[in-house]
Amino acid sequence: MSAPRLLAGPDPSRGSERRAEHVARLGPLPKGGHALVELLVHTGLTGRGGAGFPVGLKWRAVAASSHGSAVVIANGAEGEPHSRKDRLLMTSRPHLILDGAMLAAASVHAKQVVLYIGEDHRAALRSMSEALAERTDHERRLMRIVPAPARYVAGDSSATVHLVDAGIATPTTTPPSPRDRGVGGAATLVQNVETLAHVALIARTGTATGTVLITVAGSVNAPGVLEVNAGTPLGDAVQLAGGASEPARAVLLGGYFGQWVPAADAWTLPIDPQALHARGLSLGCGVIGLLPTSRCPVCEVAGIMRYLASESSAQCGPCFFGLRALADACTRIADRGTDPGDLQRLQRWSAEVYGRGACKHPDGAVMFLLSAMKTFGDDFAQHPAHLRRTA
Ligand SMILES: Cc1cc2nc3c(=O)[nH]c(=O)nc-3n(C[C@H](O)[C@H](O)[C@H](O)COP(=O)(O)O)c2cc1C
Ligand code: SF4
Repeated sequence: MSAPRLLAGPDPSRGSERRAEHVARLGPLPKGGHALVELLVHTGLTGRGGAGFPVGLKWRAVAASSHGSAVVIANGAEGEPHSRKDRLLMTSRPHLILDGAMLAAASVHAKQVVLYIGEDHRAALRSMSEALAERTDHERRLMRIVPAPARYVAGDSSATVHLVDAGIATPTTTPPSPRDRGVGGAATLVQNVETLAHVALIARTGTATGTVLITVAGSVNAPGVLEVNAGTPLGDAVQLAGGASEPARAVLLGGYFGQWVPAADAWTLPIDPQALHARGLSLGCGVIGLLPTSRCPVCEVAGIMRYLASESSAQCGPCFFGLRALADACTRIADRGTDPGDLQRLQRWSAEVYGRGACKHPDGAVMFLLSAMKTFGDDFAQHPAHLRRTA
């Protein structure tokens, strides 16, 4: 059987695919277990929530420390502001995700599955809960939906565990990683919903799906979610999204924890997590954002830094105060023009903030800022005062 695609089947804009249609199209759910874990290791599938960790290796580790009481969390928080792919998948292909979650539960010997869904993703919540109602009694006893607050850090794996355990979606210190000590102290597998959907197809076909869900955002004519073959040149994906609506200056690859790439260098980049990793880049959560030449990159970056600073969970000083200071310095440059002292402070404070939080939120923000200062070096060095705000 050739590898089907996640969004094959009925038009996703029709909404949720019902269970009968899903089973008629793809066949019954195969069994999870050790063989599937080894198949996932073999296919090299990597997580689609941002960090790109190898899925099979994570399942192996959780299975080894499960003792029959592991927990699976299907992460559908999708807190990244420009990302839409998890929502689209939860809304249109809920049974693929539930299949993947059930396979994970069987493979890591889990006694509960939490479907962790952003509370603002209303259509996704509705579709997932209708799909859950269509599953067997056993599956409905195992799986439950937990709405996640609409905050950027609520999707961090330790925050998902914290919400399930204590009702608070803020990250906690790692180690221990959730896979060693998660919900109620049990080994916990946190896996992005797209990743789980890929598993549901791989388990049926025995081969890697070879596709990637991306959200094309910013200055394109038809922004939205696309499923592309891994390796598709980024420029082709932009054409599939209707093409650039105005000349592009740069591309933000991977969302707010991603990196800026000058437009001239971006079009030939392969949309493939491993190939990008080899070039020191990351597909992150699959957002590809085009910045047009008509917008000021410094103002854009300052706006995003203010957002990221405001999303700190305020538990760690370097993250709470450091991100705020970085956002303020960016904003001063954007509003009042370049001050060499602020440029130096941005570099120094970035080094001081990186790696100093309980979670990776400050690291993501700092990497984003440093890539902006590299890609838009001249703009940061010679920014005029224009008191314009973009966010
Ligand atoms: C601040 C922060 C926010 C995150 N938000 C999400 C999210 O919304 N959805 C998601 O799947 N992963 C998110 N992650 C990544 C998760 O911690 C975790 O790596 C992921 O859910 C694991 O699934 P995967 O291996 O399938 O990607 C976030 C991480 C950080 C540090
Ligand atoms: S690093 Fe920031 S977001 Fe992460 S737990 Fe600490 S304060 Fe919260």
